[in-house]
Amino acid sequence: MATYKLLLLPGDGIGPEVMTEVEKTAAVLSDLGVAHFEMEKGLVGGSAYDAHGQSISDSDMALAQAADAVIFGAVGGPKWDAVPYDVRPEAGLLRLRKDLALFANLRPAICYPALADASSLKREIVENLDIMIVRELTGGVYFGEPKQIIDLGNGQKRGIDTQVYDTYEIERIGRVAFELARKRGNKVTSSEKRNVMKSGVLWHEVIVALHAREFKDVQLEHQLADSLAMQLVRWPKQFDVIVTDNLFGDILSDIAAMLTGSLGMLPSASLGEMDAKTGKRKSLYEPVHGSAPDIAGKGLANPIAMIGSLAMALRYSFGQGDTADKIEKAIADVLASGLRTADIKGNATSTVSTTQMGDAIATELRKAFA
Ligand code: IPM
Ligand code: MN
Repeated sequence: MATYKLLLLPGDGIGPEVMTEVEKTAAVLSDLGVAHFEMEKGLVGGSAYDAHGQSISDSDMALAQAADAVIFGAVGGPKWDAVPYDVRPEAGLLRLRKDLALFANLRPAICYPALADASSLKREIVENLDIMIVRELTGGVYFGEPKQIIDLGNGQKRGIDTQVYDTYEIERIGRVAFELARKRGNKVTSSEKRNVMKSGVLWHEVIVALHAREFKDVQLEHQLADSLAMQLVRWPKQFDVIVTDNLFGDILSDIAAMLTGSLGMLPSASLGEMDAKTGKRKSLYEPVHGSAPDIAGKGLANPIAMIGSLAMALRYSFGQGDTADKIEKAIADVLASGLRTADIKGNATSTVSTTQMGDAIATELRKAFA
């Protein structure tokens, strides 16, 4: 049985409770002889700050570098609103992305038929939706320099962020999108704001050239990011794979996630470059949702996005697509049976706790292997 080294970083808020359900799912797989996980735990975000004044320690970073995959919960909360900017909870996540060079963020938005009524959009618009947002994750305005507030000396200050993209960054994220599209609906929509941004002009140019050179068989469209936001809520099923920069990807993926009924449903994968020699890549898996401090510790959180993140790890890091399919089917079956956590209650008359949802998925998963 294959053994995989996981670093679990539960983080803050609901992070630890949903991570417990990942441990439960992993235990089932190991019990069934499907995969064995060597798991270590670390601190990130506010909990790391409380422990040692940093949003992630160097020793936990070393564990992350050594792991086959990092499984990340969520960070942040009002408790840390006043901590210095450099050690704010989000800085831990950004350091992981940057230091592990996780440039490709895959954010699927899938609407399970059982949940179509939980969406704020009409059932026919979202039912069976299956799109993949490919967000560039280590460049753009998130990391561009200069990034500062300067004092102009006349009673005014100036805040500066820098949007910057080099050819190679656009090419490698474009390649991820085209390759994914070939395994799905064979269509890529590339999005930028080339009508106002030079980085958008370059983005468009590089994607067009890459397509002509290597991916002529894939259908390619371009949409300005504002127009894409509008189309996502108008008729989202027109999309297959969307590729876009770090900031637009952040915003568009929240929209896409909410189409499916709840942020509590969607996992994501952040991937580095494949090492040609070992065939391995650095990776981190996290739910799209945040730390939801308002419901933390109450057993209300939906663990599905977190469990789905383990499924994505099996698919994208461990070559176990079949096992990932089985976890996703267990989730779909539990939803079809009517079980609901509070965030996806819809018209349901009762809801289950985080633990009960995790237990139900574990039971379905055992059945899938029986
Ligand atoms: C996300 C989050 C992060 C981001 C925050 C927590 C830094 O919103 O993963 O989408 O902006 O990338
Ligand atoms: Mn976000």
